[in-house]
Amino acid sequence: MGESLSVLVFGASRGIGRATARKYQEAGHHVAGTRRAGGTVPEGVLGLEADVTDNASVQAALAAAVEAHGPLDVLVVTAGITRDNFLIRMSDEEVREVIETNLIGPINVVRNAWKGMWRARKGSIVLLSSTGAKVGQTAQSNYTASKAGLEGFVRSAAREGAARGIRINALAPGATDTDMLNAAPPAVIERMKDGIPMHRIAHEDEIASAIIDYAGMTYVTGQTLYVSGGV
Ligand SMILES: NC(=O)c1ccc[n+]([C@@H]2O[C@H](COP(=O)([O-])OP(=O)(O)OC[C@H]3O[C@@H](n4cnc5c(N)ncnc54)[C@H](OP(=O)(O)O)[C@@H]3O)[C@@H](O)[C@H]2O)c1
Repeated sequence: MGESLSVLVFGASRGIGRATARKYQEAGHHVAGTRRAGGTVPEGVLGLEADVTDNASVQAALAAAVEAHGPLDVLVVTAGITRDNFLIRMSDEEVREVIETNLIGPINVVRNAWKGMWRARKGSIVLLSSTGAKVGQTAQSNYTASKAGLEGFVRSAAREGAARGIRINALAPGATDTDMLNAAPPAVIERMKDGIPMHRIAHEDEIASAIIDYAGMTYVTGQTLYVSGGV
């Protein structure tokens, strides 16, 4: 193995974030991961409590990860929610909760991590978008708006961080077998497969591996990578 990296994953209690933290840990890196009250992180990962909508908890988690493992080499933000509804029925709350968690949350995580990375002159950040941000998704206009916003954020932040050794990118998975996807009715998930050229849903480990490879691509910044079975 090469050098051991200091890694922090926001949203390491379930799904893609949990798989990413576990894989980094298994590869011998120093990994911290956040959970909200009640969740757990994979064995060997330093568990920290944070809610991305609560700046004080984000700052505390960042400080604890740096204190334990040194300045961050890799920051991954997978924390995200869906509140699906048709536009004609969508409530103020469904819009607000999704934008606060999926867009403002990751922006605040990055803003809070930025100064430390700026000083250390290093850092690779990966934020989770969604293929839906590009192609659209019925009953997910709030969600796809939040993800498209993240992609714009990444393009601008990348320009500011580039000369300082900070890279920031978005990774957009297609449908992936996690709690988030499995909240949809099985018939809807079956129909989704028809629209995927590879005719299958991704395993969370496939997305986690892509995140890790992508974070290590030293000449890539400001991009969105679609990991979507061909969508
Ligand atoms: N699964 C898919 O098909 C798919 C497709 C495209 C994009 N994505 C994106 O990929 C990312 C990971 O999704 P997933 O499928 O792994 O979802 P998941 O299984 O539902 O896990 C979501 C994770 O985010 C955390 N989280 C939610 N709200 C949070 C908050 N306010 N503060 C901190 N953590 C919070 C959850 O923590 P708790 O355990 O405490 O709830 C959990 O660890 C999301 O951004 C999602 O939008 C997923």
